[in-house]
Amino acid sequence: MTPSDYEYLRKLLKERSGLDLSADKQYLVESRLMPLARKASLSGIPELVQKMKSGATALTSEVVEAMTTNETFFFRDKLPFDHFRESIMPEMLRARASRKSIRIWCAAGSTGQEPYSLAMCLKEMGASLSGFRVEILATDLSQEVIEKSKAGIYSQFEVQRGLPIQMLVKYFKQTGELWQINSDIRGMVQHRQLNLLHDFTCLGKFDIIFCRNVLIYFDQDTKISIFGRLARAMEGDGFLVLGAAETVVGLTDVFKPFPDKRGLYRPSGARAGSAQAATSMPKIAAMAGR
Ligand SMILES: C[S@@+](CC[C@H](N)C(=O)[O-])C[C@H]1O[C@@H](n2cnc3c(N)ncnc32)[C@H](O)[C@@H]1O
Repeated sequence: MTPSDYEYLRKLLKERSGLDLSADKQYLVESRLMPLARKASLSGIPELVQKMKSGATALTSEVVEAMTTNETFFFRDKLPFDHFRESIMPEMLRARASRKSIRIWCAAGSTGQEPYSLAMCLKEMGASLSGFRVEILATDLSQEVIEKSKAGIYSQFEVQRGLPIQMLVKYFKQTGELWQINSDIRGMVQHRQLNLLHDFTCLGKFDIIFCRNVLIYFDQDTKISIFGRLARAMEGDGFLVLGAAETVVGLTDVFKPFPDKRGLYRPSGARAGSAQAATSMPKIAAMAGR
């Protein structure tokens, strides 16, 4: 791959998926794209780039998908699901007692382990949800991972990562070497392809948004833009859950962190501003304690 091929790919990936590759990630691009080049009977990445430049749109989408990291597992990091069961849902059930509906969005749901972990938590809540309509929407940039999520079929390795054995027995059916999550759990999750770089106002407002382990791949301005749009897609008393390596602190004041609940945020009511405005405002620490 020539330096100009790498620059072309870096720019394209930034525009299409938000992926912010530093100047020294050629090895990553090579390892992800060589299998794709071989599959398309191309001699290597220079020819792949040539094809993309000449307008091969399907190939370009495959390149963008191949460069996404889809790593996920059931009940990943445990703590967000403890917050969900112990804090978020009890409060939402009180706050939505008259509306009787709760909307949850997994904004980068990958192959489904995150939205299905939420669905199993809800199932375990049993009668406390009676009369409530709870919607879970799982979206992702990659159509391939959405298809896998819809099927809800996992390998032995995948079900051994994070999923308590009692839940495996209770909510999955074994077929040969594979496990499929039961249709009633699958039926609790709706799927849709969605790029977080694009407008998502058409999805309406949510009470709870899980947006975990995707913003880490984006640059600061992209994160700020997404936080602003997530705040607008959320009810004023909603909850945002981020990944362990992600935060709003120092980037925006549209969400405020819970001081004692890592990874959990609420809308602050502030309007989205610029990165500079947010970093120059000493408000965030003060708001956290509000
Ligand atoms: C590392 S996985 C995280 C999955 C899950 N949220 C978790 O924490 O286990 C990141 C997911 O973000 C998706 N993704 C990457 N860029 C995206 C974008 N611009 N819009 C929507 N999803 C994106 C990837 O396809 C991938 O499935």
